[in-house]
Amino acid sequence: MTQDLAPSVRPAAASPSETGGWWRSAVIYQVYVRSFADSDGDGIGDLRGIRDRLPYLAELGVDAVWLTPFYASPQADGGYDVADYRAVDPLFGELSDADDLVREAHRLGLRVIVDIVPNHTSDQHAWFRAALADREGGPARERYHFRPGRGAAGELPPNDWESVFGGPAWTRTARADGTPGEWYLHLFAPEQPDLNWENQEVREEFESVLRFWLDLGVDGFRIDVAHGMVKAAGLPDIGLSEQAKLIGAQVLPFFDQDGVHEIHRAWRRLLDSYPGERVGVAEAWAPTPERLALYVRPDELHQAFNFQFLTCDWEAAAMRTVIDESLAATRSVGAPTTWVLSNHDVVRHTTRYGGGERGLARARAAALLMLALPGSAYVYQGEELGLPEVVDLPDEVRQDPAFFRGDGQDGTRDGCRVPIPWSGETAPYGFGPGGSWLPQPEQWAELSVAAQSGDPRSTLELYRSALALRHELPGLGDGEMTWLEAPEGVLAFSRPGLVCTLNTRGEEVGMPVPGRPVLATAALEFTGGTVRIPVDSCVWWAV
Ligand code: GLC
Repeated sequence: MTQDLAPSVRPAAASPSETGGWWRSAVIYQVYVRSFADSDGDGIGDLRGIRDRLPYLAELGVDAVWLTPFYASPQADGGYDVADYRAVDPLFGELSDADDLVREAHRLGLRVIVDIVPNHTSDQHAWFRAALADREGGPARERYHFRPGRGAAGELPPNDWESVFGGPAWTRTARADGTPGEWYLHLFAPEQPDLNWENQEVREEFESVLRFWLDLGVDGFRIDVAHGMVKAAGLPDIGLSEQAKLIGAQVLPFFDQDGVHEIHRAWRRLLDSYPGERVGVAEAWAPTPERLALYVRPDELHQAFNFQFLTCDWEAAAMRTVIDESLAATRSVGAPTTWVLSNHDVVRHTTRYGGGERGLARARAAALLMLALPGSAYVYQGEELGLPEVVDLPDEVRQDPAFFRGDGQDGTRDGCRVPIPWSGETAPYGFGPGGSWLPQPEQWAELSVAAQSGDPRSTLELYRSALALRHELPGLGDGEMTWLEAPEGVLAFSRPGLVCTLNTRGEEVGMPVPGRPVLATAALEFTGGTVRIPVDSCVWWAV
C-alpha cells in the first residue's frame, strides 16, 4: 500500500501574553529584510512589505519572527554596519513602520526579535567620525581600537589579526595633513570598525539602545557576533594565517574570550527587568558545545545558535553525535537546544545536501528531523519553499563584501539572499511592484508560495503540517527524547506520543512499523508489519 498523508488542521497561533518559557520550544522564522517583501517598488524589501505578509507567517505556524538589521546604514554589509541604532534606514521605512510591524505581529500572535550589532558600528556612525576627527590618543578614539602601526614608520598593522572577510583586520587612517596615521581594528569589513567594550560609554550606550527597542515592544534580540566584543588584553598576535578557518575550532584572542559573558549577564538583567519574557539569542561561534553552552547559563542569554547542527554532514551517525553533544551541553546549564539548517550567511541546505531532487529530498527530511528534536528551531525565509542556493549570480550584481575581499569567509552569501517568490509566472514573482535587487531564477515560478499552497506534496505544505503538529502534539518542542534501535544509516527516536525516523543510508530501508504515520516527506510502502522507508526521507509516527 502506498500512503499519501494529508496536511493536518492548523490551530490558532499562541498569544504573546502566554508566558512560561515560550522560547524553549519556539519556532523562529528569520526574515532577511531586504529580500522578504517590497512594498514600494524599489526592488528592496522593507518593513511595510513584511507587515503586509505577516498573515502568511502566522498561517505558516511559526511562533516568532527575527528581523535582520533595518537600522540606518550605508549597507556596506547588508545593514550589519549600523550608523544609527535608533533609526530605521529610509530603504526600509520609518520608525513608525517598525512600530506598526511589532503591533501587528503581536495582534497575530507572533513575537518579534530584532538584530543588534554590538561588536562594531558603521564607519559612518557619529562616534567613528568623531574618532577620526579626534587627535591620536584622544577620548573619541577610546571607543574603538586605534593603535600605532609596527615597523620603522608604523607602516605595518599593529598585530597579525585577519578580517573574517579576508585581508588584515586593520586599516590605516590618514591625518588631517594627509600623512598616514594610526590604524583601527575591524574584524569584518573596513566599514565596520570594532568597538572597544572596555569603554564604559560603549556599554552604557548599548544598554540605552536595547531599552529603546524594548520600550517599542520587541520581544528580544538576536545578538550579532556575541562572541566578539571582548578582545584579549594587549591584542596579542595569533601566529597563524587563514584565521577565518579557526573560528569555531579554537578560542582566538578576538573571539570567545571569557570577558564577553559579563556583558551578556548585564543584558540578561536588563531583559528580565521588562515584562513578557524578552529574550537574548547569541550568534556565537565557540570551539565546543560546552563553550557554547556558557552563553546560555541561567543568568546569561536564552538561546545560542547551534551551528554544529548546521554544518553536520548528511550521515546518521554524525548527526546523532551532534544531537547528543548539543543536548548534553545545553542541558548541563538548563537551557533548551536550538536547531538551525540555513541562514543569510550560509549556502542554503537544499544545495548543501547535494542540490537537485536529492538535495530537496534531504532538505525536507532534515526539516522534519529538526522540528521533531527537543528545543527551539530557526527557519530561514524560503527554506519552507525548498529554495535552492542561487549559484550563478553574475559578479556585477553581487553585494557581499566578503566576495570582493576574498580568502576570508567565502564570499558567496548573496546566493542565499535572493528575494523570495510569492506568486506569478515571471520575476519578481510578487516580491513587490518593482524588480528585485538580486535577480531571481526563471525556475522559481513553480516554487512560489502561490504555486505550492494547497499542494499536499509541496515543501510549503510539509512545513505547514509539521508546524501545526508541533502545536497539536504536546510531546514536541522542549523536553526529553530517547534513541530507538534502528538499521544502520537510520535515526529513530521517540518523543512523548511520537516516533521520528530518518533514513540517510542512500537506499530504501525496511523496518518494523513504529506507529501510525502522521507526516512523511515521501510516500511509504507497507507490507504486513513492515514499512519500506524511502531513501533520504523522514517520517513522524504517532504512538
Ligand atoms: C554576522 C552576520 C553577518 C555579518 C557579520 C558581521 O555573522 O550574520 O551577516 O556579516 O555578523 O556583522
